[in-house]
Amino acid sequence: GTTLGASAAEQGRYFGTAVAANKLSDSTYVGILNREFNMVTPENEMKWDATEPSQNQFSYSSSDRIVAHAQANGMRVRGHALAWHSQQPGWAQNMSGTALRNAMVNHITQVATHFKGKIYSWDVVNEAFDDGNGGRRDSNLQRTGNDWIEVAFRTARAADPGAKLCYNDYNTDNWTWAKTQGVYNMVKDFKARGVPIDCVGFQSHFNNGSPYPSNYRTTLQNFADLGVDVQITELDIEGSGSAQATTYGNVVKDCLAVARCNGITVWGIRDSDSWRASGTPLLFDGSGNKKAAYTSTLNALNAG
Ligand code: G3I
Repeated sequence: GTTLGASAAEQGRYFGTAVAANKLSDSTYVGILNREFNMVTPENEMKWDATEPSQNQFSYSSSDRIVAHAQANGMRVRGHALAWHSQQPGWAQNMSGTALRNAMVNHITQVATHFKGKIYSWDVVNEAFDDGNGGRRDSNLQRTGNDWIEVAFRTARAADPGAKLCYNDYNTDNWTWAKTQGVYNMVKDFKARGVPIDCVGFQSHFNNGSPYPSNYRTTLQNFADLGVDVQITELDIEGSGSAQATTYGNVVKDCLAVARCNGITVWGIRDSDSWRASGTPLLFDGSGNKKAAYTSTLNALNAG
């Protein structure tokens, strides 16, 4: 293939990017998006603060725009994210206990129903584990009871039975890290008890503090062996030049080596689109030119 999406498709995978609705009027941005990618994740537009700014009053204009653009251009959509401790609307931040639990369930039901049939996979729960100790992250959702994650998955399954349901997190790439083991044990337990989980998303924001680990492929394979798909959901790699290009290529090779690794999503198109204010972590430079990282990514897809 000559594009990321086409080359990934030849391997039975997708290649996606995070998309911001307010950039869909930027012709350079849209030109690259439509040429290279066949999966999109709304970067912020499906989050709780965006979709339910006031309790039980839903707002879908930005997210619907992204979904419509994707559908018009033959791209699928990863939904992100139904339940998360961050980017909650103010009214939810101030809630607790049964009221918050009920609000979460209503939120998941309403949003997953609105997009029913249009979502390839949902990040049902995002970033629920603590960075240090492998236990649950403290949050208002966690304080509603340890079962909040499985309730979120059961609620999403009831609302949109056709979407793959994922748990998504960062710093879960290195097999030896406690956080990775914590998530692994949760997924194992969910599969044993029949909690409806279909996939695990590895955000894969690699930088000096959290570098691409040599056991990344092992991690992906070990999760897949639990009976879930694995997806690389928010890939970006700090650095530049040949070192960055090599790491991008290695990530692609690792995904292609794991049969249940369905696809790769990068967290933005140009370096200037990245959530990282400084740095050059993506595949296209600020002018939209292909970087060395792009070429090694494409070559790794084509070599698979
Ligand atoms: O929309 C407002 C705008 O009205 C306001 O003028 C402006 C001023 O700050 O803020 C705008 O909102 C910002 C929003 O991005 C849209 O640009 C928020 O402040 C900013 O916090 C938000 O950042 C997002 C971040 O998640 C929030 O946690 C990033 O774009 C987004 O890339 C990032 O994505 C996360 C994933 O969802 C989960 N995994 C980690 C990843 C990177 O942090």
